[in-house]
Amino acid sequence: MKHVLVTGALGQLGSTFQRLAHRFPGLEFVWMDRNSLDITDPEAVSQALAQRRYSYLLNCAAYTAVDQAESEPEAADRINHLGACVLAQGCADAGVHLVHISTDYVFDGTSSIAYTPEDAPNPQGVYGATKWKGEQCVSRYAQRYTTVRTSWLYDRTGKNFVQTMLRLSQTQKELRVVNDQIGSPTFTEDLAWAIGAHMEQGTLPKGITHFSNTGSCSWFEFAQAIFEERGIDIHVAPVSSAAYQAAAPRPAYSLLALTPQYSSRPWRAALKDALTTHNQTP
Ligand SMILES: NC(=O)c1ccc[n+]([C@@H]2O[C@H](COP(=O)([O-])OP(=O)(O)OC[C@H]3O[C@@H](n4cnc5c(N)ncnc54)[C@H](OP(=O)(O)O)[C@@H]3O)[C@@H](O)[C@H]2O)c1
Repeated sequence: MKHVLVTGALGQLGSTFQRLAHRFPGLEFVWMDRNSLDITDPEAVSQALAQRRYSYLLNCAAYTAVDQAESEPEAADRINHLGACVLAQGCADAGVHLVHISTDYVFDGTSSIAYTPEDAPNPQGVYGATKWKGEQCVSRYAQRYTTVRTSWLYDRTGKNFVQTMLRLSQTQKELRVVNDQIGSPTFTEDLAWAIGAHMEQGTLPKGITHFSNTGSCSWFEFAQAIFEERGIDIHVAPVSSAAYQAAAPRPAYSLLALTPQYSSRPWRAALKDALTTHNQTP
């Protein structure tokens, strides 16, 4: 049996892991939310890691409000950068493999082919910059680590693009959605399944890795697919990022080249599952 300490356990990805935990009989999870373990507190992290012989620390904690980060750079840096440094150091001291989650927003989006883990990051906004600094701490200090970059994460519930579209469709007749940012949506259950299965088997690829659902779309096409799957009749108008005027700049293209050890499925199939069935895993 391998023991896994999960931080940020009440967030979108942490909650998904809690929901799917029974699918990994070889893993015993200890769930820590922000109140039980603040990842920016070195002493608390060391104490938590000393409580049993952990094989992995799975960091699902993060500051993820991309636009808000532009006006709260210190808060974003504290959690995404300092927090990652604290976990990396704590894991190194305790001999624990750190599994850290990062983002496609570390890239500037000027590529026209999928980004590989070897491509140089050049984040455009505060959120991406703080996540990239966190990644660098993990690579520098953790003795054993896996950083999993993922993109456009959504779950069956909670705060994410899919749920926002569904909520807005209840009160709006038309929605404006950007059509000049291309990436791949990722269903949290697919990400959790990929990571959990490899942790259980001890085959998690090391270093910086990429996981998303496969294929690509714009946010506009993603929105259209959400409404098609749910049979919702609403007009979706494509708009440019310049016209939409979000606070944070985002990469125009952020497709991730998947790390070969991970298996995934097309984003549309995952979306269909997320919207029509319950607790299915591939
Ligand atoms: N969401 C996306 O579209 C997306 C895309 C690509 C990559 N990612 C990455 O995927 C990972 C998981 O994202 P998510 O969507 O699950 O994020 P989320 O729903 O925002 O969850 C993050 C969790 O971390 C907690 N947290 C914040 N500060 C903390 C601290 N100091 N100590 C402990 N916990 C703390 C938050 O608590 P509070 O709610 O109380 O603040 C929240 O429960 C993150 O690393 C994110 O950068 C996300």
